[in-house]
Amino acid sequence: MPIAKISGVGAYAPDFILTNQMLSEMVDTNDEWISTRTGIKERRILKGKNKGTSFMATKAVDELLKKTGIAAESVELLICATVTPDMQFPATANLISDNCGLKNAFSYDINAACSGFLFALHTASKMIESGAHKKVIVVGADKMSSIMDYTDRNTCVLFGDGAAAVLLEPSEDSDGIKDAILHTDGSGWRYLHQKAGGSQMPASHETVDQHLHYVYQEGKKVFSNAVVNMAEVAAEVMERNHLAAKDIQWLVPHQANMRIIEAARELTGIAIERVMVNIDRYGNTTNGTIPLCLWEWEHKLKKGDNLILAAFGGGFTWGSIYLKWAY
Ligand code: COA
Repeated sequence: MPIAKISGVGAYAPDFILTNQMLSEMVDTNDEWISTRTGIKERRILKGKNKGTSFMATKAVDELLKKTGIAAESVELLICATVTPDMQFPATANLISDNCGLKNAFSYDINAACSGFLFALHTASKMIESGAHKKVIVVGADKMSSIMDYTDRNTCVLFGDGAAAVLLEPSEDSDGIKDAILHTDGSGWRYLHQKAGGSQMPASHETVDQHLHYVYQEGKKVFSNAVVNMAEVAAEVMERNHLAAKDIQWLVPHQANMRIIEAARELTGIAIERVMVNIDRYGNTTNGTIPLCLWEWEHKLKKGDNLILAAFGGGFTWGSIYLKWAY
């Protein structure tokens, strides 16, 4: 059976730029604090009434279809990784498929918080490996500004909006998605979640008044788990595939905090110039970070390059994927 390869990337980042300076006029913060603690300088925000995550994801998938030249009708499956679906149901993936004319695709969402893109990529690659499907799109997209409390300096400086999509097809050679290690520790739910709006605590006047529809995070606890787990899982996937730091052309880490990225770089021993970093310009776009990096660095990637993708997120969820770039 052939393995799955990524054969294209498309993305969309909204035009509006929210800078650290602008945030310092909204909450008690400053550029120095945000820059040194997180590495973030600015983030993109999706403006406009009734524009949800699917608006950005649709643009990313449209660009992907255009760049790869494949017909919308030939796509068999679309998986959307998101924590900010347009609606509770139906799946945002369905809205994207409809917008993009994927008439013959089935589609669904995956929610694994910041690790969602990796969980979806793994699932999609197995759909190809099994022989069940030949053209699968994975899109990671989040409108984090829709669940941000812009009166809470602890969280509102960290996140931004964005979307990016990859096409998966069977590989003609041995370049493609080689290995994945994924983890969940459900006990971590308490440190990072959205309290209200689900079936446990449906929306009410009280939940709105108490700001319970926003991201709740115990930053230090999340940080200490992320720093260890993202680094260790990246090192583990390298070791399992007999890869030394010198064998890796690119480390593609989830962009939550520059210090978490640095910890993964240090443990894996990969040189800083081999690490994709765009957190300074986008912040944490949750499911968007890893494919947005692939999109930005696409022109530098060469066939046969070894890439290590790694993420940590709410859930807790974390994981790493080893792939050989295929074009
Ligand atoms: N501006 C200024 N001060 C801020 C601030 C801001 N935007 N946000 C928090 N602070 C203050 C806090 O109120 C606290 O003050 P206190 O000590 O007087 O109570 C202090 O800064 C916290 O400092 P510290 O605990 O040293 O911060 P930190 O080094 O833990 O960094 C985070 C905070 C949120 C940046 C960090 O914990 C983090 O990145 N966590 C993980 C976030 C993440 O990745 N989430 C997504 C899942 S992948």
